[in-house]
Amino acid sequence: MDSVVVAALKKKVLIKTYGCQMNVYDSARMADVLAPLGYGPTDTLDGADMVILNTCHIREKASEKVFSELGRIRAEKNRARERGVEMIVAVAGCVAQAEGEEIMARAPYVDLVFGPQAYHRLPEMIAAADPSARHPVVDTEFPVESKFDFLPEPSAGSNCSAFLSVQEGCDKFCSFCVVPYTRGAEYSRPVAAVLREARSLVSQGISEITLLGQNVNAYHGEGSGSGDWGLGRLIRELAEIDGLDRIRYMTSHPLDVDDDLISAHGEVPALMPYLHLPVQSGSDPVLSAMNRRHTADDYRRVVDRLRSARPDLAFSSDFIVGHPGESDQDFADTLRLVSDIGYAQAYSFKYSARPGTPAAQTTEQVPEAIKSERLQSLQQLLGAQQLAFNQSAAGTNQDVLVERHGNRAGQLVGRGPYMQAVHFDGPERLLNTLVDVKILEGFANSLAGEVVTGVSVPGGEPIERAIA
Ligand code: SAH
Ligand code: SF4
Ligand code: F3S
Repeated sequence: MDSVVVAALKKKVLIKTYGCQMNVYDSARMADVLAPLGYGPTDTLDGADMVILNTCHIREKASEKVFSELGRIRAEKNRARERGVEMIVAVAGCVAQAEGEEIMARAPYVDLVFGPQAYHRLPEMIAAADPSARHPVVDTEFPVESKFDFLPEPSAGSNCSAFLSVQEGCDKFCSFCVVPYTRGAEYSRPVAAVLREARSLVSQGISEITLLGQNVNAYHGEGSGSGDWGLGRLIRELAEIDGLDRIRYMTSHPLDVDDDLISAHGEVPALMPYLHLPVQSGSDPVLSAMNRRHTADDYRRVVDRLRSARPDLAFSSDFIVGHPGESDQDFADTLRLVSDIGYAQAYSFKYSARPGTPAAQTTEQVPEAIKSERLQSLQQLLGAQQLAFNQSAAGTNQDVLVERHGNRAGQLVGRGPYMQAVHFDGPERLLNTLVDVKILEGFANSLAGEVVTGVSVPGGEPIERAIA
């Protein structure tokens, strides 16, 4: 087909992503699925032929965003119709999975509703949808086949860092959480499929891969002949890929941190010394009510063992304040745990009752005002720890993977080993390379530094050459 015809066929799809990294990965894969159908990406609703909201159900606020966004889209869809264009409106992701029916009832102009495990079927769904006849296509079954077997090669674009889903779903059923219902049962991709995808990404210029899973360290993928592999073994194998300088993984559960993973942290230099290990609460009664199946001291021990294997390991976490039944003493225990561990960074949330989860049904809900108070004091403590961690970087040298331009001309921004955003001045051609940067100052959310000349970083470009 000649290129003029291809250009004429080019349609535009706007994919808006909410929620976690898994949704970011899924959105990129949806774009890969749509490319052969002639859909290219756009950032604006205006002029889009299709819009996909890839949604998140984790907290009430996240869920509600879908419906307010759909209101705006409806107006645009009507305008497009006046121009003779039938815009396809799709709701994907975790809200679609959990509330497919409600979406159709509240927003009947939606054409496609499909869950996180069904997007490989997008070509069939698009063919079946008829936006002018208003026959919506809803696909929220959990398919027996794995979508991963049907997805095309990932496209890395012009990035240097990529996500790679290796595990999906969750069988843990924490009291507060919708994920087991929206993502389905735990599933690990076979080792060979993960390696193939990783090699493809590296061959496209990716030098940092973050392995994703709802419980990524519960990974137990089919290996080659010798039974299932755990995450530690998978990481060791990935580290052998030439050109893959950095490996990260998230999100991990304290219960699934096994000996092999701990020793991988000590032995694999490409495995970055930064770990997101959510604990949710520092109180044993609350952890038990949450069905986390470990105590606060179990968590302290896991952190100690990881730190023994890799002394410079830094941690981040997630916390929920105001889970049903949480007392002042329980909350004080959370603050104590935070002080004991010392986090580099953390996310904290007010408990949000989610339909269908056990915690939402209990009568011991914590009043909103108390949740707000607790969140504020927790965030104060976590913020102080983060600032101290960032300030402690001043005077050190860090290898920084340069990701983008800064806001100021001549400024670049990259990530250090601890995921901190590092700002420094340097020439454009350092983009997508590893650069040795001397950190000058640490702030609340970022670091400022300067390029160290005359030094080369392992796996990086010799700076004489990069700067000259
Ligand atoms: N699999 C991860 C969590 C994924 S959800 C784990 O086990 O830790 C991401 C974070 O959202 C959770 O760690 C939790 O802190 C928060 N979260 C989940 N459900 C929530 C709810 N109902 N209300 C408030 N925060 C919630
Ligand atoms: Fe949700 Fe718990 Fe599963 Fe994490 S482990 S996804 S918090 S149910
Ligand atoms: Fe949200 Fe679903 Fe991720 S509920 S946090 S998008 S797994």
